Amino acid sequence: MTMLGVNVDHVATLRNARGGTEPDPLTAALIAELAGADSIVCHLREDRRHIRDRDVQLLRETLKTSLQLEMSAHPELVKLALAVRPAEVMLVPERRAELTTEGGVDCVRNRTSLEPVIKQLLNAEIEVSVFINAELAQVECAKAMGAGTVELHAGPYAHGNTDAAREVELDRIETAAHAAWEAGLVVHAGHGLNYANIRPLLKRVPVEKVNIGHSIISRAVFCGLANAVREMKALVSGK
Ligand code: PXP
Repeated sequence: MTMLGVNVDHVATLRNARGGTEPDPLTAALIAELAGADSIVCHLREDRRHIRDRDVQLLRETLKTSLQLEMSAHPELVKLALAVRPAEVMLVPERRAELTTEGGVDCVRNRTSLEPVIKQLLNAEIEVSVFINAELAQVECAKAMGAGTVELHAGPYAHGNTDAAREVELDRIETAAHAAWEAGLVVHAGHGLNYANIRPLLKRVPVEKVNIGHSIISRAVFCGLANAVREMKALVSGK
């Protein structure tokens, strides 16, 4: 059964908008856990625009499920990850001017810099997931570098304007997922997933976990976080 990781970055964005202490991403994470989230994701960006170092530490100390720390391979962030020791680090590319993560890590092009970071994290018994575009070369390279999990970029599927465009992207995700499974990798998917597009994706490609943030926090504004997580959990688990 597919698991649900809930990303709490957008709660931190709202907190930071007023420079105060609320809403607290830690409280959000605990409510999400109680409502059925299987893990919590937070993205520590180099500019700290939403999640801050202290949030990561508090999440690590408090969660009952597990913390997936999303970050670039910047040395300062790697140092922090080694100190905090989340269950898993998800490596993503980072461009300071981007609104959100724009694409997968180019493992092939960045292998020389990524591979030592992956080894360091694995040696510290932190699981490593690499966020990649749904391409065979990226799957193969992630495997060769030692990552145990790939998260397939669902953005092109989520943003497809027509049924035909979404079908093409589902085909790509399906092909990449099967290659990853054959290579012995765990497969996650994320980015742009919402209450409308999650079932068609999981019917075609029943990945082990989906990581979802924006659509859940957006719905929470109107119907409460626990309800928003419960509704998504029901869709993800096919109930
Ligand atoms: N997975 C990755 C790698 C991401 O960068 C993000 C966005 O932070 C997500 C999942 C969650 O995406 P969304 O907020 O669109 O659900």
